[in-house]
Amino acid sequence: MNDSKTALIRPAGEADVAAITRIYRHHVLCGTGTFEIQPPDEVDMLQRLQRVMQRGLPWLVAERGGDVAGFAYANWFREREAYRWTLEDSVYVDALQRGQGLGSALLQQLLLACEAQGARQLLAVIGDSANESSIALHLRHGFTRGGLMPAVGWKFGRWLDVVMMQKALGPGATDPPTHGA
Ligand SMILES: CC(C)(COP(=O)(O)OP(=O)(O)OC[C@H]1O[C@@H](n2cnc3c(N)ncnc32)[C@H](O)[C@@H]1OP(=O)(O)O)[C@@H](O)C(=O)NCCC(=O)NCCS
Repeated sequence: MNDSKTALIRPAGEADVAAITRIYRHHVLCGTGTFEIQPPDEVDMLQRLQRVMQRGLPWLVAERGGDVAGFAYANWFREREAYRWTLEDSVYVDALQRGQGLGSALLQQLLLACEAQGARQLLAVIGDSANESSIALHLRHGFTRGGLMPAVGWKFGRWLDVVMMQKALGPGATDPPTHGA
């Protein structure tokens, strides 16, 4: 069932940090979508949120029934200046609320926010080639597979691939960047 219509997608604020930290903690400890091993605490997560916001980039949450049930943000893909119009997304949904359209609702709004900010390419650097939900989510939103980096992560006693997916935003590469980052 897709009941994402009942979710409110809105910009994250500092009051959401506890819920974001809780949601992400599960995926760090139990999943291969992120290659982090130690979950960040709320202080660390607040710094991550502030860094993204200071860069003028979007960090969104999905709120359902008054509770934060997922989050998505975009950050610079790499620090060096020529990468400035290329962002990387992150999308995480509460483990108990996956498969209900929240990830899709978050990514849809994130795409719009990244485009409005002037970004030209959005990358998904997906942990684990067996990460069917993330690959399906990105395919659903028009991302194409850019490549596979085999066995670049070691977590839970096995080597993990990274799947690179990419979507052009706005005019993409058809003209030079005009505004934004
Ligand atoms: C990946 C993730 C964000 C997707 O969010 P979600 O709310 O579970 O996904 P949705 O319900 O919005 O589904 C989005 C699309 O993917 C499909 N999908 C979701 N889970 C799937 C699965 N396990 N297998 C196949 N397809 C799947 C849905 O059918 C839907 O496609 P459709 O609109 O064509 O039907 C979420 O599952 C998650 O938090 N995963 C763990 C963390 C992670 O890997 N994050 C990504 C890091 S890049």
